[in-house]
Amino acid sequence: MENLKNIIRDVPDFPKPGILFKDIAPLLQNKETFHQAIDAIAAQWANQHIDVIAGIEARGFLFAAALAYKLGAGVVMIRKPGKLPYKTYSITYQLEYGTDSLEIHQDAVASGQNVLIVDDVLATGGTMKAVIELLQNFNANICGLAFLAELAFLNGREKLSGHKLTTLMTF
Ligand code: PRP
Repeated sequence: MENLKNIIRDVPDFPKPGILFKDIAPLLQNKETFHQAIDAIAAQWANQHIDVIAGIEARGFLFAAALAYKLGAGVVMIRKPGKLPYKTYSITYQLEYGTDSLEIHQDAVASGQNVLIVDDVLATGGTMKAVIELLQNFNANICGLAFLAELAFLNGREKLSGHKLTTLMTF
């Protein structure tokens, strides 16, 4: 797993001065590391009878689709506002400055389904916390939260207590 961690690139001052951005693009574009990452996350969630994987736009989609295929599940999109064509549920959540919103189709998840929520990186946890709340619109069972990487110094995990959470690597 050390090779997966090492291939993630640090980009200083992105998206703003003072932020050291963890760029996962090199891991995705390399055929060995992408396969290794998907296989490892899938192994963490094997035999859990996951019905649908909910991926968070945009980088979460890349993991959600590959994992859904691997685990024999369907895939559901959680998108930024105004992108989904059908009736939606929406959640607005607080950022450091201002707010953001996410949407899901009202028929995306059926009653009683087992849902795994997937994203690339856990930072402050605000996004995932909002998505968990968004999924409260459905009578579904949230099996857990899967990430490629966690930025532990931001303590995002504290916002997500009570849920099974997996990550392949920690910074
Ligand atoms: C990043 C990342 C997570 C979120 C984590 O997405 O992919 O979705 O931030 O941050 P948090 O834990 O502090 O909420 P971003 O908003 O950059 O969207 P993108 O994937 O579309 O670039």
